Amino acid sequence: MDLFEYQARDIFEKHGVPVLGGVVATTPEEAREGAEKLGGGTVVVKAQVKTGGRGKAGGVKLAHSPEETAEKAGEILGMDIKGHTVHRVMVAQGAKIAEEFYFSVLLDRSNRNYLAMCSVEGGMEIEQLAVERPEALARIAVDPAVGIDEAKAAEIVDAAGFADDIKGKVADVIRGLWTVFKAEDATLVEVNPLVKTEDGEIVALDGKVTLDENAGFRHADHAELEDSAAADPLEAKAKENDLNYVKLDGEVGIIGNGAGLVMSTLDVVAYAGEKHGGVKPANFLDIGGGANAKVMANGLDVILGDEQVKAVFVNVFGGITACDEVANGIVGALDLLGDHATKPLVVRLDGNNVELGRQILAERNHPLVTLADTMDGGADKAAQLANA
Ligand SMILES: Nc1ncnc2c1ncn2[C@@H]1O[C@H](COP(=O)(O)OP(=O)(O)O)[C@@H](O)[C@H]1O
Ligand SMILES: [Mg+2]
Repeated sequence: MDLFEYQARDIFEKHGVPVLGGVVATTPEEAREGAEKLGGGTVVVKAQVKTGGRGKAGGVKLAHSPEETAEKAGEILGMDIKGHTVHRVMVAQGAKIAEEFYFSVLLDRSNRNYLAMCSVEGGMEIEQLAVERPEALARIAVDPAVGIDEAKAAEIVDAAGFADDIKGKVADVIRGLWTVFKAEDATLVEVNPLVKTEDGEIVALDGKVTLDENAGFRHADHAELEDSAAADPLEAKAKENDLNYVKLDGEVGIIGNGAGLVMSTLDVVAYAGEKHGGVKPANFLDIGGGANAKVMANGLDVILGDEQVKAVFVNVFGGITACDEVANGIVGALDLLGDHATKPLVVRLDGNNVELGRQILAERNHPLVTLADTMDGGADKAAQLANA
């Protein structure tokens, strides 16, 4: 989960990383109040969107009074930055910047390690720097078992070439950022720019933090950092119902049990779709072991809510939940959904009590349901119906 800058700022502050005052606002009036709260002096109004390059896109503007703050907020709110609409700004205390540096620490998957990157030439041109003069960006491996201790922080500031008079201070801030990374279970902590102010202080002026959602269970406070407004509405609905759902971009809705079976169902549907106008799977949905009527109905409800879906393929292997229970689940779901169920359903059952399961569906003889004997046959039928 990527955080907004203001959320990163708060987390930095919590772990003792030096930041400047900042207030979030969703209207120009709130921005004016924010500027007053910060003392009425020079502030910077910053678009809060989860993408970089806000400065270059005009999403970071200086303001010298509360009135001007409201005016600048009015210009930035509603702006589109790389496809992200600005719904809120942060009014941040203005820094008197002497120098801009760069620091990040991230999970380096390809080397099964952590990696710190640091440069004394930070700021808005860092991507260009990394390409044109990679030697100006120090890259230091960080052993997860040791982390960034005093020696590692010293190694990083030396490699980046900081001036002797600020090395110590920068190293302290880097260790603070490591604390953020570790304590919050982040996979990325990036500060660009990390600045030296005119009075010699080191301050994090921008922050980009990615939290590891797999560690969410260790952090009760992380749930509220989620931007629920931006989540895909179907994924949000599925999450509310504890369904393991991922929206994709095709026409064939998929329901299966067990992640492996669902993954291979996506493959066979994509393959079958090549013969039927190029239709593709519309989603991943694993309803897990308990394929009862309620779970089935919730799953179908989410899938049928996807306007792109033209047909649904239910591919279930009866195990602990036997096929007759699954069949009853499908029948029950269709009854629960009533008029909401409007799209053809191809059902392939196999495994425990398969004969009984098929019999239940055959007897119910629902007009939307087609039974398939095999996975390939079911995929082909569903793709054909989605293309009809
Ligand atoms: N609080 C601040 N005070 C003064 N200048 C700032 C402040 N915040 C950002 N800036 C300036 O704006 C530039 C861009 O802001 P930044 O937060 O890094 O956004 P982005 O990385 O999305 O462009 C920074 O490099 C810095 O020069
Ligand atoms: Mg930046």
